[in-house]
Amino acid sequence: MTDYTELNTQLRSLIQGVPHLTANLANASALLYESMEGLNWAGFYLLEGETLVLGPFQGRVACIEIPLGRGVCGTAAAEDRTQLVPDVHAFPGHIACDSASRSELVVPLRKNGAVVGVLDMDSPLPGRFTEEDRAGLEAFAAVLEQELAGLW
Ligand code: SME
Repeated sequence: MTDYTELNTQLRSLIQGVPHLTANLANASALLYESMEGLNWAGFYLLEGETLVLGPFQGRVACIEIPLGRGVCGTAAAEDRTQLVPDVHAFPGHIACDSASRSELVVPLRKNGAVVGVLDMDSPLPGRFTEEDRAGLEAFAAVLEQELAGLW
């Protein structure tokens, strides 16, 4: 189980005062990937117009563009709501970048209240993510929003 208080403290100390968006998102994805069990992908998609574009991540090569509203990431961004998907095979329109992925948690990222991207976590294990993970990763996203506010 992840200690999100510790993780989010580590995130803040890693990115606080660093004036580079890509560097901070890259380190945030590395922190998640090395801190959490049972992941095959952790990273970011950044909104450009109506399209989510692949950002810094850890894991296997991934889809480059996801239209707003498509798949788990596109739905999280379009609805501005976290998507906790215990079984991606049951999610209509799921985009299988890696056929090994079985569960996902996607959290929208905002600047001044508007969605600017998503944090995407994937696992090869069905039901990998819990409500505790949702709360912990929403807090992780809130730290990013706060610390990166001037960098998007
Ligand atoms: N599965 C995601 C696409 C992104 S990758 O898995 C890295 C989705 O349905 O949004």
